[in-house]
Amino acid sequence: MRPTTQYLTANQDRFLSELLDLLRIPSISADPNFSDSVHKAAQFVADKLTAAGAEHVEICKTEGYPIVYGDKIIDPSLPTILVYGHYDVQPSVPDELWISPPFEPEIRNERIYARGACDDKGQMYMHIKAFEAMMQTQSLACNVKFMIEGEEEVGSKNLGTFCIANRERLSADVVLISDTSMVGNDIPSIDVGLRGLSYVEVEVTGPNRDLHSGVYGGAVANPINQLAKMIAALHDENNHITIPGFYDDVAIVSAEDRAAMALTPFSLDEYEKDLGISGVWGEMGYSTLERTGIRPTLEVNGIWGGYIGEGAKTVLPSKAYAKISMRLVPNQTSESITKLFSDHFKRLAPAGITVEVRPHHGGEPVLTPTTSIPFQAASLAMEETFGKKPIPTRGGGSIPIVALFEKELKVKTVLMGFGLDMDALHSPNESYGLFNYYKGIETIPVFHQRFAELMKNKS
Ligand code: BES
Ligand code: MN
Ligand code: MN
Repeated sequence: MRPTTQYLTANQDRFLSELLDLLRIPSISADPNFSDSVHKAAQFVADKLTAAGAEHVEICKTEGYPIVYGDKIIDPSLPTILVYGHYDVQPSVPDELWISPPFEPEIRNERIYARGACDDKGQMYMHIKAFEAMMQTQSLACNVKFMIEGEEEVGSKNLGTFCIANRERLSADVVLISDTSMVGNDIPSIDVGLRGLSYVEVEVTGPNRDLHSGVYGGAVANPINQLAKMIAALHDENNHITIPGFYDDVAIVSAEDRAAMALTPFSLDEYEKDLGISGVWGEMGYSTLERTGIRPTLEVNGIWGGYIGEGAKTVLPSKAYAKISMRLVPNQTSESITKLFSDHFKRLAPAGITVEVRPHHGGEPVLTPTTSIPFQAASLAMEETFGKKPIPTRGGGSIPIVALFEKELKVKTVLMGFGLDMDALHSPNESYGLFNYYKGIETIPVFHQRFAELMKNKS
């Protein structure tokens, strides 16, 4: 058995209880009421990095939440792995749907239930514990740098500036991230792509004040009715997005690549059953995996306006709102898509209605080639610990900062994630399998070793 695996076996209870401590900190970056906790989580990560043996540990201030940095340079001639992860989490609402409270982690059926259990505290913490195991067994094969941020779930607003200002300090041969999912515990996989994101809020205004819906209704455009109509017009009868030019830059995926994708094990039946739906929906001409992996999409994330209190109030509201996200694929850019959306949405407004579109965060799509050394190293590592060669997959989610790593730091990323779709990221009752937590800690040192070997052979 590998020394790091032995060390893991001997320390697994402590590794778990430390993660549970981190999960007890409600580090919700989106809600300013939790600001103290977000800072507390940063401190926790910094302390654990130091305890594990990292040097130059620093809680780097930004205009928002801090970035925790730490490193261990054992030999400048060895390759360097930059580990990226995030200690912030999504809001836990609606709390009443959780079986156990979101920030009081509980183990049920071999799973850790808590907000952030998988995304990304559980997955990020695996790297700190794997690092500890390598330090304690003197088996570090590469230099390591850690960059753990607290604003991923709100668009990584300050990480770009930090990267540009710290190019030298962050120089590395690869960025290693565990913040994605696999197909299954018996079907290991590695994401080779992430979608980009364009996120906007729209404000639709009708009359200058809320009106009596009997006195004025039927004679004045109702912003909620009109917003609903405008949103409905964004897809056609084939569920294509109707924004002119929206698909212009979408890279054509070859028939070969689509055929390879179709080999990913996937049961539509189980998918529908898991979600409690009687049928799937999506763009005509594409499979479910293609719809979430290689095609751009447009979703309303929230919609509100008018009277939503108890009972009935007859009112024709002055305003209506919606939050709309678009997932982007290569070679779309968030800036041009946001502009196309904005221009088109304003054109959809009928007389008597004005529209304001406010862009939120964005991010660019990325592809990480299977032929690269980092991918090969991850593939070998997972093959060794899972006993099965992982398959390449295209993830539907976004980690906007990955494109920037490539552009600004000139470093390629490998997405060696250990989550599962059943982990319910961003949903009530988020969880992370104990199997996945320990498997990640077991696999990461193997990645370090394989990466060092492949880099050595290359030179
Ligand atoms: N870890 C996720 C992204 C993810 C999850 C990628 C599963 C692939 C598979 C990340 O924390 C996340 O939720 N990103 C956000 C974007 C962000 C700007 C809020 C997303 O994808 O919605
Ligand atoms: Mn994440
Ligand atoms: Mn997330």
